[in-house]
Amino acid sequence: MSQPPAQVVGMGTVLDHVRTPQEVLRPHVVEFRNVTKTYNAGKTDEFTAIRDVTFVVEDVVEKGEFICVLGPSGCGKSTILRSIAGLEPQHPATSGDVLVLGQPVVGPGSDRGMVFQDYTSFDHRTVLENVTFGLECLHMPRKQRDELGREWIHKMGLNVATDAHKYPHELSGGMRQRVAIARTLILKPRIILMDEPFGALDPLTRLNMQDLLVKLWKEVQATVFFITHSIEEAVFLGDRVYLMSNSPGTILEELKIEPATSSANEMQRQPKFLEAVYYIRDKITKLESNQ
Ligand SMILES: Nc1ncnc2c1ncn2[C@@H]1O[C@H](COP(=O)(O)OP(=O)(O)OP(=O)(O)O)[C@@H](O)[C@H]1O
Ligand SMILES: [Mg+2]
Repeated sequence: MSQPPAQVVGMGTVLDHVRTPQEVLRPHVVEFRNVTKTYNAGKTDEFTAIRDVTFVVEDVVEKGEFICVLGPSGCGKSTILRSIAGLEPQHPATSGDVLVLGQPVVGPGSDRGMVFQDYTSFDHRTVLENVTFGLECLHMPRKQRDELGREWIHKMGLNVATDAHKYPHELSGGMRQRVAIARTLILKPRIILMDEPFGALDPLTRLNMQDLLVKLWKEVQATVFFITHSIEEAVFLGDRVYLMSNSPGTILEELKIEPATSSANEMQRQPKFLEAVYYIRDKITKLESNQ
């Protein structure tokens, strides 16, 4: 198949169209085939959030791709993510097919882990008990899971000695989000679904979390599906960026992004990084003014 012409915008390459499952021959981690989701279908308040969404994320062996989704508020980003997670009422789709690892999604599964914006943790559990919650559900013996838990607390940049026995209300927002991420990553899911996980963090903490996430992602080798409102974050983290249209959302453009070569803070000053950011910003500004 001949390569479609593409436009280079700094670190990004805009594909001439969004790739379809039929075009990508390697195994797929996630695929959407003409997916439409209408909430409250058949009722007076029915609302179509996404329409005819088709895309494919390929299974990049022993690496996993980092996919970022950007688009105007309300365009259906969370609808897409939660459909992949198999969470109701986003799941099931009204029409079309949502496939994970080649199989139709029928509900949540251990191959997918989700991190939300609002640092979901159990208030009555300590940091260690929160981080090891999933392992407890899998009946891993306490000694083994606590050992793994302490390892992950350390990896997430928390202090095992002073933080492991704290309760969520004793933690800062950044620390709570580290706990939520550790709780998901410790289970080594093939697919990590993140819905604006850093949206509530201050700018500096956010940059530190981006660096940490890149480091951990390389270790866990999962496919990451990451929703953000920050274009800089998407260009820094993403191997690919999907740009969504206004509601009812569909994927307008797919960009392939060069891997970052230095920290988030340093990348954000580089002209080719900024060129990609400005390209996407102009697109989104245009979309939002057409609402
Ligand atoms: N459970 C639901 N019932 C009815 N409508 C819903 C439901 N969930 C979402 N919607 C509607 O679907 C549209 C898309 O919502 P969604 O949460 O997917 O958008 P989003 O792109 O994630 O927005 P944001 O950037 O603000 O988080 C919105 O108009 C929203 O009101
Ligand atoms: Mg959302």
